[in-house]
Amino acid sequence: MLIDTTDGGVAARGNLLGDVEPFTLPPSTMVIFGITGDLSRRKLLPAIYDLTARGLLPSTFSLLGFGRRHPSQVLAMIREAMVAGARTPFQESVWELIAHRFRYVCGAFDDRAAFEALRDELLQTDDSLQGSHNYAFYMSVSPDYFTQVCAQLKAVGLHSSRDGWRRVVVEKPFGNDLLTSRTIGAAVSSVFGDSSVYRVDHYLGKETVQNILAMRFVNGLFEPLWNHRYIDHVQITMAEDIGVTGRAGYYDGVGAARDVIQNHLLQLLALIAMEEPITLSADDLAAEKVKVLSATSPVEPLQETTARGQYAAAVRNGNYFPGLLDEDGFDTASTTETYAAMAVQISNRRWAGVPFYLRTGKRLTRRTTGITVVFRPAPHLHSRAEVEQPPHNTLVIRVQPDDGILLRIGAKVPGDGMRIQDVDLAMSYEASFRQPSPEAYERLILDVLRGDASLFPTQAEVEASWAIVDPVIEYWTSTGRPDVYASGSAGPASADAVLTRSGRAWRQL
Ligand code: BG6
Repeated sequence: MLIDTTDGGVAARGNLLGDVEPFTLPPSTMVIFGITGDLSRRKLLPAIYDLTARGLLPSTFSLLGFGRRHPSQVLAMIREAMVAGARTPFQESVWELIAHRFRYVCGAFDDRAAFEALRDELLQTDDSLQGSHNYAFYMSVSPDYFTQVCAQLKAVGLHSSRDGWRRVVVEKPFGNDLLTSRTIGAAVSSVFGDSSVYRVDHYLGKETVQNILAMRFVNGLFEPLWNHRYIDHVQITMAEDIGVTGRAGYYDGVGAARDVIQNHLLQLLALIAMEEPITLSADDLAAEKVKVLSATSPVEPLQETTARGQYAAAVRNGNYFPGLLDEDGFDTASTTETYAAMAVQISNRRWAGVPFYLRTGKRLTRRTTGITVVFRPAPHLHSRAEVEQPPHNTLVIRVQPDDGILLRIGAKVPGDGMRIQDVDLAMSYEASFRQPSPEAYERLILDVLRGDASLFPTQAEVEASWAIVDPVIEYWTSTGRPDVYASGSAGPASADAVLTRSGRAWRQL
């Protein structure tokens, strides 16, 4: 496993099967811009705590925050975020390790002096870290600031170095459509070089998502069946029970298709549908994902194959849930969709004629993310088999919660005759591995420090994904308001029609 320490990431993009041990991580500093923001407090800081607690971050790792909060408030906020969000039990000794090495620079993104202070602080930190000069800049801020922060880093000479690596980590949304994603991508890459840009899609950091590759390419069982001859259709669902309370600033005008389908769901589709990569290196994986995403497009006509909805107020189990338009910060005329569904097709030999149905929504019945692969029925059934209709064998990859895999098959009901009933063969991560899976951000942060880009989408993947959803969003923009669905329901009725037209049905949430 290569770790690039000389050229800012050009030589090594890593390998998913890399075997880097924590003690081989080079000395490094992660700078988090927006360290007191929502993402940092909910995900990044708890992940850094857990990595430290698990002994995966060496003593030569240090954390540096950049933000506008007064320095006197910051350490307490970080501690609070770690206490609240850590997965492993909170221990004062671990916190002291983190706090001891923590540095903070207070400033705004248009303040050159603050970036000069950042550079001086990094150089000082380097002295205590064996002169590492290895920096990962984490943009935990709105993409509106990416270009400005990159320009400031360049102006103070922090964007490149001959004696250490520079990596920049950016969070979605990577633009608002294909055009803007190109502009943002070009601006960031022009400063750091494309191979030093790590675009986070946190779904790729989830164990169950990585297991899709293992399931498909390590076993002999699935691959022969993995095509249009045996598969009828595929459903990819990400349902949430929470709403968008408190997120109006980001979510209004963005909506479910841009927030989830463009990235998380299309990455899942790519892993399910791509050809076997030559190796599991970042470049080989990306090459296959780009190929399959480039062959993917919405099924026409869009009025029949897509649906969108917005949650409305409802009372469930005695609790009142506001509608989107009642949420703080949302325009009362907002047409932002909180539910999106669409059928896409993959124009290649393997998948010709197999629809992939994607759906996501907020304030639905429950939180569940999973992939359902529905196989074609057996071509012939013995006349004595008592079934209303031939069973569709179904493979369900449960991403969360209750991570695991289910295979639904028809089985004989005990007793006389040959009555058939569907039963599940079930694998659960918890039962099989007896340890909780790490959080996605733990894996992703570690991979940035290792220089392993396998779990980060490339700019080409991002652009290919926008090319799939852009026409659907444009169509919706031209057709007025989204449908309405009650909070706590399974989504708008129009979403059912996307499947029932072809005699299919969504898997129940
Ligand atoms: C984020 C979306 O990327 O993923 C959120 O912006 C969503 O809207 C979140 O709630 C869900 O992540 P997870 O890991 O809880 O499924």
